[in-house]
Amino acid sequence: MMKVFNIVGARPQIIKAAAISRAIRNHFQDSVEEILIHTGQHYDHSLSSVFFDELEMPHPVYNLKVGSGSHAVQTAKIMTGMEELLQKEKPDVVIVYGGTNSTMAAALVASKMHFPVVHIEAGLRSFNKSMPEEINRITTDHVSTLLFSPTITGFKNLINEGFHPENSPTYTIDNPKIYHSGDIMYDNALYYGSLVKKKNGLLEKFGTEPEEFVLATIHRPENTDDPVKLQKLFSCLMRISEEKQHSVILPLHPRTKISLEKTLPGDFMKNMKKNSKLHIIHPVSFLEFILLEKNAKMILTDSGGVQKEAHFFEKPSIVLREQTEWTELVNNGTSCLADSDTNEILKAYEKFANGNTYRFPKFYGDGKTAEFICNELLNNF
Ligand code: UD1
Ligand code: UDP
Repeated sequence: MMKVFNIVGARPQIIKAAAISRAIRNHFQDSVEEILIHTGQHYDHSLSSVFFDELEMPHPVYNLKVGSGSHAVQTAKIMTGMEELLQKEKPDVVIVYGGTNSTMAAALVASKMHFPVVHIEAGLRSFNKSMPEEINRITTDHVSTLLFSPTITGFKNLINEGFHPENSPTYTIDNPKIYHSGDIMYDNALYYGSLVKKKNGLLEKFGTEPEEFVLATIHRPENTDDPVKLQKLFSCLMRISEEKQHSVILPLHPRTKISLEKTLPGDFMKNMKKNSKLHIIHPVSFLEFILLEKNAKMILTDSGGVQKEAHFFEKPSIVLREQTEWTELVNNGTSCLADSDTNEILKAYEKFANGNTYRFPKFYGDGKTAEFICNELLNNF
């Protein structure tokens, strides 16, 4: 029996881990023992506990309850907690996802204690090291033993950083294996997408219909921590909901809520609250969010996961960032990089609102990536 640490901390990691948990439950129950570990980086019900039952996941066996803090404090607490768990449980392998502080902290401790690290979502790069995620994922990749890149671009990034695709077993931290595996989030989109009911009352709550609203999310520090950018982005959402034919639904990340309340002028906030076509709501569950994605006319976001889900559900997206790791979407013409530039955002909005049909090629595998990854773990550990 292979003992696997499955590490989650932030919302998107819980969702990603659900794909691996599902593959284990359905295909590898006799050969893999999963120990789900929550670092506690995200702890609000709407960013954490809401997902476990809905996504049919096991509940975490351990929760380190690290909570919020500076990068150093959060990273240090995760490392200390993980060290104890690794000593106690001695897993065969440690799986980490994406590029959060939880990812890097767990990978650093595990690798230094000589436990093999498996990085799912390896190789993604924005080439902007002012993003904390860029530092986290580069560090994680370089201490990992198996690296699963969702895209060919990510796979090539790894080769450019000195990883050798021709390495052969036995794989170790000094002789790592890189894969172009496909994306477990595509597995999830197919699986959970089929569970979402067409009408569950959610759209009616906002007085809107399919294709009549724009879905938005904003949470990146480069947007939330810069009051000028933040005001520009929310002004655009106001303009779309006031002047254009679409209402806007924005499930608000707590980080953004705090910044809005702290930094935007009182008058501006009052106008936003008065606007009946701008629905700023609490974060919603994954199935509810998928329902919104499937029914939106288009999606405005600075989220990594949401950009791709827009593609999975064949919706164009406006990316509120300067760069993206998912460059194939921009090259495909269905994602526009607009940063917080009002003209660029409104230009992209007009382009996507005009009813053209777009192609959404299958860039992200066959929907069975989690199964492939589990097989590779069993072959190698
Ligand atoms: C983190 C990840 C980011 C990922 C995002 C997913 C890092 C460096 N960043 O960003 O890569 O895209 O998660 O959503 O790891 N807060 C709450 N309740 C919570 C969690 C956070 O109110 O349950 C507030 C706190 O004020 C906290 C702030 O949000 O300081 C930021 O949380 P944090 O986990 O540090 O980073 P995220 O912005 O969520
Ligand atoms: N999501 C959700 N509820 C919400 C907003 C997002 O379930 O209210 C999901 C979304 O479907 C995607 C993931 O959260 O799978 C993206 O997480 P986030 O944007 O926080 O992080 P990122 O992907 O940018 O790291």
